[in-house]
Amino acid sequence: MYRYMLLTGLLGIAWLTSCEGTRYKQGENLYRTYCANCHMEDGTGLERLIPPLAGSDWLRDHQDTLPCIIRNGMHGPVVVNGITYEGEMPSNKQLNPVLINNLINYINHAWGNDFGEADIRRTEAALERCP
Ligand code: HEC
Repeated sequence: MYRYMLLTGLLGIAWLTSCEGTRYKQGENLYRTYCANCHMEDGTGLERLIPPLAGSDWLRDHQDTLPCIIRNGMHGPVVVNGITYEGEMPSNKQLNPVLINNLINYINHAWGNDFGEADIRRTEAALERCP
């Protein structure tokens, strides 16, 4: 009986991990295509030029404006983990809300980040309110 429970438990964990894998896979591919050349594969950014996403307090604290940043880019001073960056991030107008949502879910969970689950309805609502 216990052996059976243990086995189903293990299968359940294996199943869950493989789902996580596919769920974040599209986001990871999008990240590689649209973001990694600046923010780097490991999310650490580049010196004082490109801010990090791995462990970024800005990313953690700006989940509501994040969809607009990804779509429209940003420029001017931004403080990330106590360091001020004055750069220019390009827009990504070609990304639809679902892709942006998947991208957010990837960067929120990659590299040890634990910034929560993005919700497609919230992402869409945020995109409608972009300045
Ligand atoms: C051409 C280089 C470049 C690309 C490509 C790029 N970024 Fe950025 N990103 C920057 C720069 C530079 C800043 C800082 C902008 C500023 O100073 O206002 C920034 C800022 C950010 C920030 C806010 C600060 C932080 O580090 O938390 C986030 C979040 C972010 N980028 C996510 C992304 C995502 C997601 C993508 C892919 C869709 C992406 N970036 C693509 C250059 C880039």
